[in-house]
Amino acid sequence: MREFSETYLERTREGMWDDSRVALEPLDLEGRERILDVGCGTGELSRVLAGDSPADCEVVGCDADTDLLAVAAEHVPVVASDAYQLPFPDDSFDLVVCQALLINLPEPAAAIREFARVSRDLVAAVEPNNAAVEIDSSVDSENALERRARRAYLDGVPTDVALGADARDAFEAAGLEVLETRRYDHVKTVEPPYSEAAVLAARRKATGSGLADDRETMLAGALTESDYDELRRAWREMGRDVVEQMEARTYHRAESVPFFVTVGSQS
Ligand SMILES: C[S@@+](CC[C@H](N)C(=O)[O-])C[C@H]1O[C@@H](n2cnc3c(N)ncnc32)[C@H](O)[C@@H]1O
Repeated sequence: MREFSETYLERTREGMWDDSRVALEPLDLEGRERILDVGCGTGELSRVLAGDSPADCEVVGCDADTDLLAVAAEHVPVVASDAYQLPFPDDSFDLVVCQALLINLPEPAAAIREFARVSRDLVAAVEPNNAAVEIDSSVDSENALERRARRAYLDGVPTDVALGADARDAFEAAGLEVLETRRYDHVKTVEPPYSEAAVLAARRKATGSGLADDRETMLAGALTESDYDELRRAWREMGRDVVEQMEARTYHRAESVPFFVTVGSQS
């Protein structure tokens, strides 16, 4: 199972759902009594669900990683569990939802089948298409290099991290009827004054440490060791340009990650 850190989840989810919740409307959060957020991590989505559902609606978070669950537990009740074998009786919830979980599972349809077992009404998945991320940066080389690194990463990862709207296939394979799919573009911008997290991210680019975290995954795909070394050299150079522009307060970056909300129910 791929592991995620608390800081990674906080950084990648920062501001998510703050600008628009239109894509979550089919979940009918205002009408819910008991919601399960599977693969909740630090509970970033659980907090949105709890905030938008009635005060007496119970939102439960569940994840296999107990360190992340300890953070989620500060906001919602949590249960440690595998997504394929949920420790709840049939029909325990009226909405079972996950965010960025299916892209990390080798058998997404089996998980959806288990979600449907414990839901008496809706099942929903919020999944990104990581192959369609777009970057607009004031450092010319950043977009092309990030695309190259992303392609190498996607190639080496064993699950479908570009699942996005294709989550529909997993719902259908699990015997669910897909009621609706909506798109939400999570746009993160970096501009002056720079946050501490943005400065740290720039430094990680300049040292190449961010890329090094994904080295093993990249080498599991088509990338050779010398391709990786060359990519890391260019990456660090790009990182130094980012740091330089930050010092001159001229650095701007916008990253757009398309997420797809798939909602289904037992047909
Ligand atoms: C990309 S994170 C998403 C976390 C959270 N849903 C969010 O959007 O911020 C994926 C999460 O799925 C969890 N996970 C992966 N495989 C799992 C499994 N088989 N059962 C339960 N949780 C799992 C990981 O521990 C991690 O917290």
